[in-house]
Amino acid sequence: MTLIPELQATELLPRVVSTGKSSAKRQKLQTDIEEKLAITECSGDSQPNLTSIISHYLQSLKHYSLRNLGYPTNQDFNYDPLHPLLDFHLNNAGDPFLGSSFSLNSTSFEVSVLNWFASIWEIETSEYWGYVTSGGTEGNLHGILVGREQLPDGILYTSEDSHYSIFKIAKMYRMKCVKVRTLISGEIDCADLKVQALAHKDKPAIINLNIGTTMKGGIDDLDLVIQTLEDCGFTPDRYYIHCDGALFGMMFPFLKQASRISFKKPIGSVTISGHKFLGCPIPCGIVLTRLEYINGLSKDVEVIASRDATITGSRSGHAPIFLWYALKTRGLVGLQNEVQKCIMNAQYLKNRLLDAGIGAMLNKFSNIVVFERPLDYKFSRRWNLACNGNIAHVVVMQHITVQMLDSFVDEFLQQRSISFEEGRFQPICVANDIGAANCACTLHHSIS
Ligand SMILES: Cc1ncc(COP(=O)(O)O)c(C=O)c1O
Repeated sequence: MTLIPELQATELLPRVVSTGKSSAKRQKLQTDIEEKLAITECSGDSQPNLTSIISHYLQSLKHYSLRNLGYPTNQDFNYDPLHPLLDFHLNNAGDPFLGSSFSLNSTSFEVSVLNWFASIWEIETSEYWGYVTSGGTEGNLHGILVGREQLPDGILYTSEDSHYSIFKIAKMYRMKCVKVRTLISGEIDCADLKVQALAHKDKPAIINLNIGTTMKGGIDDLDLVIQTLEDCGFTPDRYYIHCDGALFGMMFPFLKQASRISFKKPIGSVTISGHKFLGCPIPCGIVLTRLEYINGLSKDVEVIASRDATITGSRSGHAPIFLWYALKTRGLVGLQNEVQKCIMNAQYLKNRLLDAGIGAMLNKFSNIVVFERPLDYKFSRRWNLACNGNIAHVVVMQHITVQMLDSFVDEFLQQRSISFEEGRFQPICVANDIGAANCACTLHHSIS
């Protein structure tokens, strides 16, 4: 395992400023960390040692959370009242609606959470089925599985900007997968979808629809996708739409002008991640589908006295309670305020970057600000930026304040001017990634 001690949250010792001469020091730090964490005591380590390791780890987590800008995890939460639950192993194996013979479960919380999502996504409680997953990826695994069971010879269509889990799932399920081009915004290009769908018209279509792509926050237009499929001659019994709403799926219902994700439209399933906008301290998610699809996919299991229709066996019993608590404490008004705050702060960041001459893009209804990739790798790691090719992004979540954004931009400008002054670099051209109008490279800057 390669750890770069000064860059990892597993750092157990104070931060070391890297200089040319620091590699021996870093090596020593790495060795110290490995020695402290190694599980070598035959009769178990002493409690003071364990406490000291965990408290160092906590310090480093606090340090990193101040600059956690690049990933869509909301860090602004307080679950203190739920701490006593850690004294129990809670396990929701099986179908949440049937419960199981393992009585330390939280399925009643789980069903309350699922019912809340059913009302948000407009499906009657008697008509849906769903469960709390281990995250967005498991939701995608389940939704696409349901689609494939409905349309066993279906082809999976998904845009090239889709999350990597979608391509992995196509491989796991041995499904033919057609990658559809995207527009600059990251949204699926329906003109290309049309060409591809017509070319494979003999087979049903299983669509993975992005309600917010990972990198750019591009939102596939559900109504246009449905229209495109129908224009190509696909009747609703020959297509299945799974909505991957990992982050935005939770924000969309609170944006008045955004088009709705709704089971009143011909969609088959929706998933979100629970640790993203809602801010669960452990990875989790939600998947909802139509109840009629589940019967063929499930099997009674005597040993748990339940029905098996989920991807995993044992499932976290804590996650549904965290989700329930997150929803109960905020209510619709609290959630709506948080969505607005994130989007306003994202607009602030985009304007600050543009004013400073840094190419940047922010889609409508999005809190993901995309900009030219910083040239300094350490700077990107220090701010926990997610980078891909020529671009990087900040996902403006609830814990990110205007002050944090200001320090980020100031440091970025400083780092950039050092690189430019030394004549080592020029601004990268990101016209192909975020559009010529948003690009600040020498060519496009002078045009605009
Ligand atoms: C669009 C999209 N789908 C799926 C996922 C996977 O979610 P998870 O990390 O919860 O498995 C992500 C994660 O960032 C995502 O952005």
